[in-house]
Amino acid sequence: MYEKDLGNGLLLRWVKPEDVPKVGEGMIDVFSPPNTRLEFVRTWFLRFIDGYAGFMTEKDCVVIVDTKQDGEPLVGFTSYWQETHTYEGIPYKAGRPEFVGIMPNPEYRGKRLQQHIMDALHARSEEDGTLVQVIGGINWYYRQFGYEYALAFGERSKVMFSSIPFLKEDEEEPLKHRRATLDDVDTIIDLDKMHQNGASVHYPLARDYVISQITDYHELQENPDHLFARHTIMFEDANDNIVGYAMVNKFDADKAGLLGVYHMGLVDCTINKKAFMSSLRNIVAFGKSQVQDDELWAKANALAFYCSQWHPTVEALPSDMRLQCKIPYEGTHYYVRVPNLAAFIKHILPALNQRLKKSLTHKKYSGTIRVSNYTPRYPGFELKIERGVIVEVNSYIKADQQRDETVAYYPPYAFLQSLFGSQSIEELRSVLPDVYMTAEVKEVLDILFPKTKQIMAHLM
Ligand SMILES: CC(C)(COP(=O)(O)OP(=O)(O)OC[C@H]1O[C@@H](n2cnc3c(N)ncnc32)[C@H](O)[C@@H]1OP(=O)(O)O)[C@@H](O)C(=O)NCCC(=O)NCCS
Repeated sequence: MYEKDLGNGLLLRWVKPEDVPKVGEGMIDVFSPPNTRLEFVRTWFLRFIDGYAGFMTEKDCVVIVDTKQDGEPLVGFTSYWQETHTYEGIPYKAGRPEFVGIMPNPEYRGKRLQQHIMDALHARSEEDGTLVQVIGGINWYYRQFGYEYALAFGERSKVMFSSIPFLKEDEEEPLKHRRATLDDVDTIIDLDKMHQNGASVHYPLARDYVISQITDYHELQENPDHLFARHTIMFEDANDNIVGYAMVNKFDADKAGLLGVYHMGLVDCTINKKAFMSSLRNIVAFGKSQVQDDELWAKANALAFYCSQWHPTVEALPSDMRLQCKIPYEGTHYYVRVPNLAAFIKHILPALNQRLKKSLTHKKYSGTIRVSNYTPRYPGFELKIERGVIVEVNSYIKADQQRDETVAYYPPYAFLQSLFGSQSIEELRSVLPDVYMTAEVKEVLDILFPKTKQIMAHLM
């Protein structure tokens, strides 16, 4: 296992069982604002390292300890999570550095120690054959480690309670709800998959995550102090057929009146408007039933959707009900790192060949397309295309600065925006003049890497 002597008695290594309580305590030190101790973050970490939601195991955390001091105090830590995302339906592993912290001690902060931790995590990803890393985190910081903001969470939406149509007096509520059980896990996963909506990049709900969201409530019943995040409910029609699900935040006062809908899926949600409106009323009714304090509930005024504008349940909202909003404490993007572009492109090759095949103009195209990131420090890639099929993918470094008409030039990391479909080449060029290529090369890259939808489950 990766281990590194960082000098001055500092040792970087993977976590040992005896470090775990220290990391839990360190989480409080690192993430609490001045004069406060956020005890819950320790519980949070301990749950995840104990396997909750399936993101990490008890071994998946890098620590730095100070061996020159008694008891080897903790200097820094970061967990190593694994997720599976899909690119046009092709699964790929995404490694995620999570719970990043350097202890707030002048001897340790500002010394670029996090760089060593990131190196260890990236080495581990390489060992695991993980081609992509993602991180949701503080602004700018992760750019230093090769990450780019290439996956947007998308626009967030809210629906004021007052805009949800009331049930008419003579009408019966078409849907009812009940709390989800473990028997519902497969249905939820299937519904989530059905809601990809043609997104090029999708972060589907993982089985362990869904199970954890359901069993979390059982734990709350056994222990009222259990750190509880959200409820999972199922919608049923009058004949008890399951027609959907929703994962709904525990409502609390500091969310600007928003009752969060983290995940939601409905069978044929866009076909039957009455059922859809009924599902929204059900969520509000359920949210209210979970809040014992009337004064607290009086602060709730809207549903907030933690999914992008492309998610079918958001697309189904009538335009006069859907308001764009910013959800408190939520970032806007995942950062992405792809250390070996050629390797990832090989992995998603069927998707790229499919795009060529569907093209009206290039389905029989033959030629070689190269992408250079200007400097040999960031290798690009080369595609050999024969009669509309990419037959070879190679790593490509353009060592000289001679103009070459077959090459598309991108400043380092900018190509990730094209790769994940978050910006069109046209949009990139409007802010980055050094994204440069001939019209012919652009035509091919526009087909291979169009701007597309992204539907990323937001789990934290
Ligand atoms: C964020 C954190 C890990 C950075 O570690 P650090 O030891 O303070 O900073 P580093 O030595 O790694 O800083 C390297 C560079 O990043 C910059 N930087 C440091 N903290 C930053 C921040 N929060 N945002 C943006 N840039 C930051 C530094 O200025 C430095 O740049 P410079 O050399 O050009 O001046 C640490 O401050 C921390 O634990 N913060 C609290 C917890 C946290 O926010 N974790 C991240 C959650 S996603």
